[in-house]
Amino acid sequence: MLLQLSTWPDIEQYLKTSQAIVIPIGSTEQHGPTGLIGTDALCAEAVARGVGAATGALVAPVLAVGMAQHHMEFPGSLSLRPTTLIAVIEDLLVGLHRTGFRQFFFVNGHGGNVATLKAAFAQVYWTLTTQGRPAADQVRCQVQNWWAQPRVYQLTRELYGDREGVHATPTEIALTRYLYPDRVKMATLAPLGTTDYAIYTAADFRRRFPDGRMGSDPTLATGEQGQQFYERAVESLTARYRAFIQDATGRPPDSEPLAPPSPG
Ligand code: NI
Repeated sequence: MLLQLSTWPDIEQYLKTSQAIVIPIGSTEQHGPTGLIGTDALCAEAVARGVGAATGALVAPVLAVGMAQHHMEFPGSLSLRPTTLIAVIEDLLVGLHRTGFRQFFFVNGHGGNVATLKAAFAQVYWTLTTQGRPAADQVRCQVQNWWAQPRVYQLTRELYGDREGVHATPTEIALTRYLYPDRVKMATLAPLGTTDYAIYTAADFRRRFPDGRMGSDPTLATGEQGQQFYERAVESLTARYRAFIQDATGRPPDSEPLAPPSPG
């Protein structure tokens, strides 16, 4: 169920059976010379919609711009400051809480969002509880990275090994090739450079990663692989969403065990 294709009476009816919403969040930033600038947002949106279709959950419009300051030396990249992103998340969640939403499940497509998202959750808890909003103690926020789910990461290791890298990875490029088969460019790419993946300023990033990739070989990616990633991500995040909302409402956790978190 997509929020933007619903009416307000639809949402009022939905809130009688669930107080949870799935919110895809990504980024609009360079993904190497061949990857789509929208990769992180497109992937998060597709996986979140898959979770919504599997569970009946309400899915919000994708938050397509995240925290990507280190990519800003490449034209076309967009970013919010960390403090701006925190304010955006706070405004959206406090507003949704006003009409009855209590559980916020973020499907994330960009590693650079995680620290800011967790700070935003703390800000939301702080605001709702100190302002004495109704049922503020029932509010729960969670972020899950689609690419880091254990069964997704297992396939990544099998297919790409050390050529996965950490940015403009074949995993995410494969998913966009599945979703938008005619849009992702394929080209021979220069050999990989440094494997020191520390992130500082945007200018430093471009100097050390001149074509935008970080240790990755996206030429390995195919749409067929992307479909496998999509299916595994939706399956894993469907289980996590179910466990999240059942735990939040005091019922026993989902009987399907969750795999341990991956290092990815
Ligand atoms: Ni990405």
